[in-house]
Amino acid sequence: MAASPRLFTILVLANVLLSFTTPAAYSRTSDNVTVSLYYETLCPYCANFIVNYLVKIFRNGLISVVNLRMLPWGNAWIQSNGTFLCQHGSDECLLNTIEACTITIYPDVVRHFRFIQCVEGLALEGKHSEWINCFEKTGLGTVPIDCYNTGYGNVIEQKYAKETAQLNPNHRFVPWVVVNNQPLQEDYGNFMTYICKAYKGKPKPEACRSLLSPSTEKANSVHPVCYVDDEARNLTSLTTAEKIPRSAKASGTSH
Ligand SMILES: *[C@@H]1O[C@H](CO)[C@@H](O)[C@H](O)[C@H]1NC(C)=O
Ligand SMILES: *[C@@H]1O[C@H](CO)[C@@H](O)[C@H](O)[C@H]1NC(C)=O
Ligand SMILES: *[C@@H]1O[C@H](CO)[C@@H](O)[C@H](O)[C@H]1NC(C)=O
Repeated sequence: MAASPRLFTILVLANVLLSFTTPAAYSRTSDNVTVSLYYETLCPYCANFIVNYLVKIFRNGLISVVNLRMLPWGNAWIQSNGTFLCQHGSDECLLNTIEACTITIYPDVVRHFRFIQCVEGLALEGKHSEWINCFEKTGLGTVPIDCYNTGYGNVIEQKYAKETAQLNPNHRFVPWVVVNNQPLQEDYGNFMTYICKAYKGKPKPEACRSLLSPSTEKANSVHPVCYVDDEARNLTSLTTAEKIPRSAKASGTSH
């Protein structure tokens, strides 16, 4: 896994500025709809949403009017000493960070989504430990592994943690889908209808014709979720020497 650190640094510097452009900047400059997915890699409902629902926008053409932002942090939190804890254990922290690195190294959404779709597909089959094969399967290089190993991935994750903590209203569960600043909450299964309504450009994409007909509304209303686990966070903070104020989890600046 020892690749050239210099090459890695160059790639990272080239991509960092691009990948953290704010969503507001996008939506003001065009009719494009910004869709942000706050998720965590091993929540089965996130994996299901990505693999069986979100993927549809790449097939029906909606992606041509969407700025899709994937934010793999979800219900994880930062302990007082700076280490991450994830709802589904350390594998989830690893995969959150690997996906964050892949998004940063390969900012082209078609490329990094294909990788994420592969990993989440494995997660649904209970085979997430085979994630490393997804680089080859999707034709991507393994630079994201170097990003993880050097600790740069943690820096990216802290930014996602911060953005997730700053959601207004707070996310209550994942997957948490936001379309042009509107959180879809429990109605996230109808995300494509929201995209079509939010898109003000003309003409509307072909896919919107059937999506905006009354018969498809409510079709996808009931979707399960992974709730924010306040109790686990509290237990964690009680085991540390000093009790952490609840707001500290949002700081993301410790190391
Ligand atoms: C709108 O989004 C598409 C797909 O992400 C992108 O190719 C296009 O450049 C965007 N248009 C503008 C004006 O930002
Ligand atoms: C966790 O702690 C916060 C603040 O200390 C408290 O408001 C909240 O009710 C606790 N949650 C649970 C599930 O115990
Ligand atoms: C950070 O704190 C947690 C919980 O108190 C502990 O389990 C872990 O070993 C610590 N990690 C480091 C690197 O100090």
